[in-house]
Order: sequence, then structure tokens, then C-alpha cells
Amino acid sequence: MKARVAVLAGDGIGPEVIAEGSRCLAAVARLFGHDFELTALPFGGAAIESEGDPLPKETLAACLTSDAVLLGAIGGPKWSAPDAPLRPEAGLLRLRKELGAFANLRPVKVHPALTDASTLRAEVVRGVDLLFVRELTGGIYFGDKRRDAEGASDVCTYTVSEIERIVRVAARLAAGRRGRLTSIDKANVLETSRLWREVTQRIVSREFPLLTLDHMLVDAAAMHLIRSPRDFDVLVTENMFGDILTDEASMLAGSLGLLPSASLGSGRRGIYEPIHGSAPDIAGRGVANPYGAILSVALLLRHSLQLQAEAAALERAVADALAQGARTADLAPEHGRALSTREAGDAVLSRLRGPAAERAPAR
Ligand code: IPM
Ligand code: MG
Repeated sequence: MKARVAVLAGDGIGPEVIAEGSRCLAAVARLFGHDFELTALPFGGAAIESEGDPLPKETLAACLTSDAVLLGAIGGPKWSAPDAPLRPEAGLLRLRKELGAFANLRPVKVHPALTDASTLRAEVVRGVDLLFVRELTGGIYFGDKRRDAEGASDVCTYTVSEIERIVRVAARLAAGRRGRLTSIDKANVLETSRLWREVTQRIVSREFPLLTLDHMLVDAAAMHLIRSPRDFDVLVTENMFGDILTDEASMLAGSLGLLPSASLGSGRRGIYEPIHGSAPDIAGRGVANPYGAILSVALLLRHSLQLQAEAAALERAVADALAQGARTADLAPEHGRALSTREAGDAVLSRLRGPAAERAPAR
């Protein structure tokens, strides 16, 4: 198939991990006979420098006419002063909004070879396989902001239809997995959460009666996630709670650097990005973990291009690399030295198999 992918590498380690993601995408095209056109575009702090705008018009236009957007990371100390007039983060929020990418999927799966890489005990994290569905274009990150000499405010708003559509996405995904959905809110305090709980209850009981639905308060969920993470299947929550809890949940897998995400709207187009940030402290050294970016490419193949076998082949290549000890520095290799970003990309590419191998029986 033919597909156009907008590549927004961004700042810090973004370009380093996206280089490996792009190599994997090109390799999939070669092995499976597709024609992917990758277009690199300025974004984030880098685009503030070159165009004076974290999301330049041309970048947005290219994203809107692409089949998918592959994104690295944005931000850095250079643009994070409290009085900074332009912030890379604003470009990211605007991109999500403009593309209507309201559903942020963040899977957390603990690889068997990495149960020792987590700061939590192996018996707690072994077998964890959960999926966060974070609402991405509403709530307090998008509400009115005010600041004056006396104080400041950020308004949190949710409409019924915003809640309905994210709950439907999460419920459909839960139905295709273990059939368990946990909705996270703060209904004992927040009005938006009381609405969230009511709408979730109604949508699931009417449209997805076979699912097991629980409601959990966000503080309890934060605790439960590290006490007993295997209890969860699909979790759905609002924007800010999802932002916070997914960073916490990433530690189950051993490193933030491993985790991919997909941000989807009502059509097939999506934004695919590792959930880690720009990590300015290690940027430019070639030591960042590219697996989160590469697994984001797998999600891109699956959700935007509907290429299931290709997505599975890439995920298998990453899993094989990890199983055989191909670890970057963040994964604290026990034996031997840590791989560089490029070497980790090579470890995946050398294990990536095309369609013929897919059909061959396992030896
Ligand atoms: C994330 C990030 C972003 C967010 C920031 C960079 C705006 O933390 O994708 O989780 O809060 O959504
Ligand atoms: Mg975050």
C-alpha cells in the first residue's frame, strides 16, 4: 500500500529515537512491499527556533494531509522559563486538538525478560498487560487560563459528548481484550468527575453490557497500580489524571523509554509518539532508548494503516531483541555493556522478518 507519514522529530532525544523508528518503518515497507513516504517537519522547540512557532502552518498542513504522524518528543530548558512567550508544549496540545486526536492509547506490557528492570518486585510486575485510554483534548489542559497579581486559575470542563466518545473507544478495546474496564475519576470532589462517572455508567451498561465496569478514585488508583497492577485490563480516564497515571504505570515496565502511544480521532489518522519526554540531560549522546518510538511505529502500522501482520512483526522483533538482552542504559543491563540508540535499532532491524517468515512454522 501507499501511505504518507509526517515525521515530527522535535527536541532533545526526539530526533535520535525517531531516526530508529523511521528506519524500522522503511524496513517494514521494504520487507512487505509497501510504499511509505516520510516527510520530516519542524515541530516543538526546534520550530520555535527556526520559524518562531512550535507548530508552524506548513507542519500542521502536512499532518492534516498525511495518513499518520510520527512524533518524537518536545521541550527543553531553553523554552521552559515561567515567562516564556512560546512553549513547545503548546504546539503539541494544538496538534492534538487540530487533528481531533481525543483518544490516547498507552499500553503497558511487562516483557518477561524485563521483570528485573522495574523498581518494583518481579512478582508484582510479572505478567502485567494493561491499556490506558486517556482523554486527550479536553479537561483542565484545554480550559480557560487566567493569571493576575492575586492568583491564577485553570478551568476544567467536560461535555457529555466528550465523555461518551472516549468511553466508547475504551469499552470497545476492553471488549476485544479481557472484558474489564476501570474508569478513574475524583467523583468525591469534582463535578466533572461526577458527570464522568454517570456518563460512563450509562454508556457501558447500555452499549457494552458484557463488560465488567469498576469506578475507582484517582488517588486509590495510583496506589492500586503499584500494589496490584495485574488487576487492571483497560483503564479510562480524563486528561490530567491520565497524564499522571501513565508516567507512574510506565515504571511497571522498567523504563519510560519502552512505552509507545497512539492518539486517535474519529477517522484513521493518528499521532504516534513514545510517552517519554525530550530528556535534555542525555540528548545528543546516542544513548536514548528507541524501543518506545519503534513500538509507536508498530501502533501506527496497526491503527492508521491497518497493517496487522506488519505491526505484529515489528513488535515481535522488539520482543526478541529484549529477550536476547539487547538493552539500552535505562534498562540497566546486568551483563555486558548497554547498547547505543543506533545499536538497539540495529538489534530490532536484524530480527525483523517479512511475510514469508511470518508464514513459516516456528523452529
Ligand atoms: C504527555 C506529555 C504532554 C502532556 C506534555 C508535554 C504537554 O506529558 O504526552 O504525557 O501533558 O500531554
Ligand atoms: Mg505526560
